[in-house]
Amino acid sequence: MKKNLFFWFAIFASALVFIFLAWAFSLHGTIGLFRVNGILRLAFIALALFAIVLLILCILERWWLSKKQTGWVRVLSWLVRIMTVLGIIIPILVFVYIGIPGSFAASESPQLLMMDGIGSNDVPDMAVVFNTINSTTNSVKWGSGDTSATFSEEKPLKQHVFMLRDLQPDTEYWYQVNDSQTYRFKTPSVDGQYLHFAVFSDAHFGDAASRNDLSSKMFQYIADPANRFNLLFSLGDLVDYGFKDKQWQEAFKVLSPITSVIPTKYAAGNHDTLLGGLKRYETYCYPVGMELRTGTRLWQRIDVGKVHFLVIDLEWSAESYTHEQNIWLETQLASIPKDDWTIVMGHGFYYASGSVIEGWQWYDNPETIQKLTPLFEKYGVDMVFSGHAHQLELLQKSGVTYVICGAFGSGSEPERQYISPESVWYSINHFAFVDVTVNGSEARLVFRDSDYNELNSFIIPNN
Ligand SMILES: [Fe+2]
Ligand SMILES: [Fe+2]
Repeated sequence: MKKNLFFWFAIFASALVFIFLAWAFSLHGTIGLFRVNGILRLAFIALALFAIVLLILCILERWWLSKKQTGWVRVLSWLVRIMTVLGIIIPILVFVYIGIPGSFAASESPQLLMMDGIGSNDVPDMAVVFNTINSTTNSVKWGSGDTSATFSEEKPLKQHVFMLRDLQPDTEYWYQVNDSQTYRFKTPSVDGQYLHFAVFSDAHFGDAASRNDLSSKMFQYIADPANRFNLLFSLGDLVDYGFKDKQWQEAFKVLSPITSVIPTKYAAGNHDTLLGGLKRYETYCYPVGMELRTGTRLWQRIDVGKVHFLVIDLEWSAESYTHEQNIWLETQLASIPKDDWTIVMGHGFYYASGSVIEGWQWYDNPETIQKLTPLFEKYGVDMVFSGHAHQLELLQKSGVTYVICGAFGSGSEPERQYISPESVWYSINHFAFVDVTVNGSEARLVFRDSDYNELNSFIIPNN
């Protein structure tokens, strides 16, 4: 009877490992993680083999016992019992570490997020968003000059979204949450195709190597009204482990002084959505209540006068670039007038210099190049920004400028072993972001380090 019980425990442990693996692979991004990260790929394979071996051994033990064999069967019985205990403990521990959602924290300050689509005066609508630990009702008073309006929530909520619509270009606005601190922001001008924005990627908050002090310093430069930035784009890997709420809290503590006053847009990185992180990414970066007009919570289009941003979902490689997203992207690209600016923002890179890391080729990515660059060339995309590779690089191919700016807070990649034929300029060992000024038919693109110094600059013509 007791032996029978041990057999069923072993079957249960083996099934538990398989259920755990099925759950892990059902999560957004795990297939990419398996393909790109050689170490974790081995861990997944080892776990699957462990479950198969346990299943075979426990059946073998039962068969030998039925034949009343002794000797080696005792060793086998102990091995099955040890593996049974491990087979139950390992999935439970890993599930507890990554699978149980922590409570969402209250926001340090409100964020001003760019809405997708086009506003009624060619300026994107904005959303003031913040979280509270308990469900509460709040109000936002906002306006420009002496005119103001107040929005109040009708029922208690934990995630709060207030839409600021019909904004006028080149106008200073202010807002207050519950009559407290006043935040000010200025909308971009839409005359003459002038726009000034900053792009950063791969801050990896929560990683031991990330430099929060330098990230904070660079945010201060961008938020300084004297530097006149209109918009801010984060291209992913904002946190190291997206499933850890603590890292999101750390990120927004550093981000709050800037995202409350510079309208911000977040693209998703593979680390943000890692093993259940997608839910947190959506909660903090595209909360329920923010309208969607042009795509999904992972890809959207934002129009600022004649400058059009297509924020796409490209995480590990091209796994997240679905057929649906491909059709959406081509439809958007086809609708943008040739003389306007078309700027693509996303996490994963296309052309890049680099080396092989953990068995993956971290340079000229054949999957993203094949799936996306023909569209960029066909529709005359002007600039394509990405991160993912922790380096600074500018590459040009067939009239399209590719910018890699994955050097905001985390450590650099190793020195490149492969130089992309499309590379124009490459640099590592800097903490930096990109400062872009679109002005008429030209854009000035400046790579700035953590002291706001120019590392290099380029003039990009409208393609
Ligand atoms: Fe990264
Ligand atoms: Fe990444």
